Amino acid sequence: MTGRIRVKQALAEGRAGQEFLLKGWVRSVRTGKGVTFIALNDGSSLAGIQVVAEPELPNFDEVSRLGTGAAIAVGGVLQESPAAGQALELKALRVEVVGEADPEYPMQKKRHSFEFLRTIAHLRLRSNTFGAVFRVRSALAQEVHRFFAERGFLYVHTPIITANDCEGAGELFRVTTLDLAKPPLVNGEIDFSEDFFGRATGLTVSGQLEGELFAQAFSDIYTFGPTFRAENSNTSRHAAEFWMIEPEMAFADLNDDADLAEAFMKRLCTFALNSCDEEMKFFNAQIDKGLIERIEGVATANFARMDYTEAIERLKKAPESFQFPVEWGLDLQSEHERYLTEQVVGGPVFIVNYPKDIKAFYMRMNDDGRTVAAMDLLVPKVGEIIGGSQREERLDRLTQRMIDTGIAPESLSWYLDTRRWGSTPHAGFGLGFERLIMYLTGMDNIRDVIPFPRTPKHAEF
Ligand code: 4AD
Ligand code: MG
Repeated sequence: MTGRIRVKQALAEGRAGQEFLLKGWVRSVRTGKGVTFIALNDGSSLAGIQVVAEPELPNFDEVSRLGTGAAIAVGGVLQESPAAGQALELKALRVEVVGEADPEYPMQKKRHSFEFLRTIAHLRLRSNTFGAVFRVRSALAQEVHRFFAERGFLYVHTPIITANDCEGAGELFRVTTLDLAKPPLVNGEIDFSEDFFGRATGLTVSGQLEGELFAQAFSDIYTFGPTFRAENSNTSRHAAEFWMIEPEMAFADLNDDADLAEAFMKRLCTFALNSCDEEMKFFNAQIDKGLIERIEGVATANFARMDYTEAIERLKKAPESFQFPVEWGLDLQSEHERYLTEQVVGGPVFIVNYPKDIKAFYMRMNDDGRTVAAMDLLVPKVGEIIGGSQREERLDRLTQRMIDTGIAPESLSWYLDTRRWGSTPHAGFGLGFERLIMYLTGMDNIRDVIPFPRTPKHAEF
């Protein structure tokens, strides 16, 4: 018998009569007359393999008593399966119990609620749904890198610890080695000059500012990394730690930015449909009935583009009433975003040119003096999935915007320097990776598409 192969490969390439060594975890054990059936799964695919154990097996009794969750190694021969829904099964010649499982294993039932499974995030990985979610997540992460590599984008690792608050929203988690019980004080305020970095620092809310520096040397770049926001919003779409993909292009405007975002989204949708076929069929059947059709639609659609001002007019004319007010100058809430993408457009839509006062300081001022060259991509079911903009490349305008929004220009002198020497029109966006996975799997809660979710009051695993 050769070395171990994975269940996915055995099912795809194996022929009846071939011998294989498989290793994995027991999903269920069924004992009939003189025969025991074990559903074995090793995480390589949704489908497990049925192992058939018969009394000739030297440790038949031990195998028949196996608990759900146990780890086993099975050497056996593939045979055609009489059971419905599977072409092949593995007749066991040798079974080694690698790790036993007692009857307290919490995943005994076929179906548990996602809420319950969140309380056992270390074990939920062995369920069908989470197996499928995390295989899709892994495959998509790899596709993100292929997409940008093919287009000549440089992959840059921006810092996780930073002294700047890119989005200016004050949602920074503090990083410090100061003694929290008695921090050094000057005039009643904490003196961060005594801290590890000699200044106040936190976890990054975005790699964009550093990404812009790289774009001004390498033209096209992207980041893909963990992002942290101490937003106390306990919603199904917000996590305190999430992953963001942020491309940045020099010599590019808002239209180029939207074009890239559209190509990127379509590519990821097409990839999920083609390369995660087994998982997508599962999600379509078990989680969200219209999923495949919706994603096929996005993969081939032309994404609409609509001015914020028009979006406000459409919302005001809406036959339904919203919980939050609709007024030019106010930010769009999730309910408004979903109405626009689901009811008005019926597909993905870029809302562009937002009022300057509700957007970050770095966005390029439009000629009207009231709006900035911002874009949010809204998609059905999720709402905002991408946020981006053309950046203010004019030194005087940018400096003034910083002063107006209460950011001391000296504190970001390195950022302003790029506007001094060889400044270019440039643009970029951020795609929340979990929002993408929610969108592609139909999963409703961000906590169920990230391995170990960090949300207010939750960081136990
Ligand atoms: O719109 P945001 O805040 O934009 C930025 O951070 C820019 N610096 C991006 C850029 O232009 N380079 O965030 C971008 C995306 C959102 O559209 C959303 O998908 C996701 O990041 N996001 C979150 N995802 C999960 N949990 C949160 N708390 C999120 N906040 C933002
Ligand atoms: Mg945003």
